[in-house]
Amino acid sequence: MSKCLLLGNGGREAVLAEYISQGYELYSIMPYENPTIAEYVKKSNGKMLIANPFEKEVVQKLIEQEKIDTCLISSDNLLQEGLIDLAKSLGLKTFGPTSKGAKIEWSKTYALEIVNKLAPEMVIKNYKITQEEELKKVIETYPDDSFVVKPEGLTGGKGVKVGGIHFQGKEEGFRYASDLLKASGTVIIQDKVEGKEFTVMALTDGKNIVTTPITFDYPYRFDEDKGPGTGGMGCLSFENGLLPFLEQEDVDRCSKLIKDVINELNQDNLEFNGVIYGGFFKCKDGLKFIEFNARFGDPEAINVLNMLETPFTEVMKHIFNQNLSKENCKFKKQCSCTVYMVSSNYALGGPKTDCEFELNKQKIEEKGAKIYFASAKKQGENKYVSVGTSRLVAAMATGKTLEEAKKNAYNALEGNISQNLDYRKDIGTIYVH
Ligand code: GLY
Repeated sequence: MSKCLLLGNGGREAVLAEYISQGYELYSIMPYENPTIAEYVKKSNGKMLIANPFEKEVVQKLIEQEKIDTCLISSDNLLQEGLIDLAKSLGLKTFGPTSKGAKIEWSKTYALEIVNKLAPEMVIKNYKITQEEELKKVIETYPDDSFVVKPEGLTGGKGVKVGGIHFQGKEEGFRYASDLLKASGTVIIQDKVEGKEFTVMALTDGKNIVTTPITFDYPYRFDEDKGPGTGGMGCLSFENGLLPFLEQEDVDRCSKLIKDVINELNQDNLEFNGVIYGGFFKCKDGLKFIEFNARFGDPEAINVLNMLETPFTEVMKHIFNQNLSKENCKFKKQCSCTVYMVSSNYALGGPKTDCEFELNKQKIEEKGAKIYFASAKKQGENKYVSVGTSRLVAAMATGKTLEEAKKNAYNALEGNISQNLDYRKDIGTIYVH
């Protein structure tokens, strides 16, 4: 059997571990033992190493010792650091872009330049700023805090701040932008627009793309989209692959842009395959581009991989053979709902304290939901503890309707998790800002 190395250790990698292990021996290098990844490594007779996946010598040694032939990476930092480049140089089949290919994610200005060339009507008015004086002048042109501050580099989807939501008043927006400018030498100021946000992810072999069901993310900490911006607290998708406010032609427009972007990256010899993730707004005056990621979203990957009808390992092979098509990469006609659980102080600042929690995975799964651990490790029977300050564990369920998927996810949690696990109770409600 082929051997696949998966680097990364979040909820996204937990679902990838499940689906990769259906056709490969699974190998993992992770900084702590993620219980879901560990489970699938074991089930597939693979091997895991508790080590830093950024250490290239460690990665190379495991690949050579175990004669690993395939590598999949879907984590922004690992991609930027060139771990796919390393695997490629050792002759492995790879899923995920090289560091240069991932530039559309790690350089927001590069992504904007490409979209400006391919679909200028989708670009929201923006300023690429490199001087403090210029920053002052640009912010002065706004009557109030109706602008967005975007860092140039990677922030794991958490660095963009929107006026009136993440900061209040021009002064606070200026201070945040100025800090980013000092840290990286570039900051982007963009008009704030009114619209409905959605994600279009596509699998790609570097030539062809297949758009996955459209997902709707919950990037705010509390119910009704209150509180600070966070890693997604939940995610949903519908049986028709659309969202209530989207038409097929909207998705086709975004897919065309994604396809054109892939062509553009090829012209720049950027060696892109795996997943391209586009964030968009549907506004009164048309579709607007927010950002590209060079990887699966987290939690979007949990919904989308569970919606695949074709085994994911076959999709991987079509990607390696560059013959990916709608006919050989099909999705189920079902709805999906993912709910992320976190500690009560997640994303709220304050001192970092360990969060010990209980969760009965077997009972939850008997009630029809699936569990994917993220920043947590096992401590005993049904007992876990947080690692770091990120999201802890996700529950995902499917259904013929969204109501059913939602009910299946929430009901399965009832009575089967400890009280100190916090989660949004409104995943499934579509919010528009
Ligand atoms: N859910 C948003 C992201 O993965 O960036």
